[in-house]
Amino acid sequence: GDTAGPSVRRLSEWNADDLRALAAEYGTPLYVDDLERVRANHARLAGAFPDAEVLFAVKANAGRHVLRALRDAGAGAECASAGELARALDAGFAAGEIHYTAVNPPAEDLDYAVDVAAAHPALTVTAGARDTVERLAERGFAGRFCLRVHPGVGAGHSESVSTGKDAKFGVPADEASEVLNTAADHGFDVVGLHAHAGSGITNDQLDDHERVVSTLADVARETTHNLEFVDVGGGFGVPYRESEDPLDLAAVAERTRDALTDVDATLTIEPGRYLVADAGVLLTEVNTVKRVSGSVIAGADAGMTTLVRPAMYGSYHPIRSLADDDRATEEVSVVGPVCESTDVLGEARALPAPERGDLLAVGNAGAYGVEMASNYNSRPRPAVVALDDGPELVRRRETLADVTHAEDTAHTYPDP
Ligand code: LLP
Repeated sequence: GDTAGPSVRRLSEWNADDLRALAAEYGTPLYVDDLERVRANHARLAGAFPDAEVLFAVKANAGRHVLRALRDAGAGAECASAGELARALDAGFAAGEIHYTAVNPPAEDLDYAVDVAAAHPALTVTAGARDTVERLAERGFAGRFCLRVHPGVGAGHSESVSTGKDAKFGVPADEASEVLNTAADHGFDVVGLHAHAGSGITNDQLDDHERVVSTLADVARETTHNLEFVDVGGGFGVPYRESEDPLDLAAVAERTRDALTDVDATLTIEPGRYLVADAGVLLTEVNTVKRVSGSVIAGADAGMTTLVRPAMYGSYHPIRSLADDDRATEEVSVVGPVCESTDVLGEARALPAPERGDLLAVGNAGAYGVEMASNYNSRPRPAVVALDDGPELVRRRETLADVTHAEDTAHTYPDP
């Protein structure tokens, strides 16, 4: 693998002709996932954590193409729902490579996970609440059990994705031993501890990361149960702006190892974003250009139903124009087709003066992009193309029938 390769793929490095050809062939809006880049990201991370088990947090991109590429590269899968668990199994992950992380799981999720665990005892189920332990016991669960600890420290790119502090996740560290005992009394096979502090950890948040791992390490040293692994979560950040530095993986690995001194268990990490973010771009076409009181608005065919992160978290995604002629640069806001004023992909970006028909590429769209797409405004979700040996349509563009299929109604646009 490409462990020594550059640790960030900038949006400027994508080949404009290739992207234009993909948009011409498959239409827009279009997600493009480069599997070679996914593999390179995995190799780099695995190289920095040579003794660790790497689980891919499926929620970042559950596409079968991504799951298969990472399975083939040697990763496992961390699944947050029955649906993700089903998709991981379908993509060929063995149960022993899968952790199901239950977060106040709906009954049908738990029913399915317990059934999978009964059929495939190698599955690991992670729970972060006494109630979940009791609900597992009520279903006769007797499989591999991991306890999610509430680390009391949060981190990440914004408050809204911080899961470590005052959030709903995990059992307080000082109650962990007791809950582990309860789990063992129920006949669960206690194999691990887990914590996840937040998503998008950067170089200046390594103290927080180390504190989370230390909290887990304290619980691990205290427990009488024979732990197989300590799972320190995901959250490895990637640069979204050209000015941001990539995460210093060697430093993260060192701080993690230091915090785990004298803990006799395998280190497990479960990154989502790091593995897939810069492997994906979103292509969108400008269909409307407006000049309103001095600012330029480019209306595109992708918006918050395609990529919700800017609207939801105020996240920055790089945007590049693929128009090939030399135009003056203007400050442009790129907006989508949804009837919401938060339907913005990027504000005040220096871009070549936009024209109708221009293609725009939105970078770092491989993580939490298509996964968080919605049908709001009765808008079909976009297509996805995977790049490997060549481009392959791995998810067709939805139609109106996909939007309405659960409703007893017209599934096509009625004749006018
Ligand atoms: N493990 C657990 C238990 C998690 O809750 C998460 C993310 C991960 C692993 C992976 O985190 P990552 O390595 O991708 O940062 N939709 C938000 C991110 C929410 C992440 C929630 N949990 C976003 O677009 O930024």
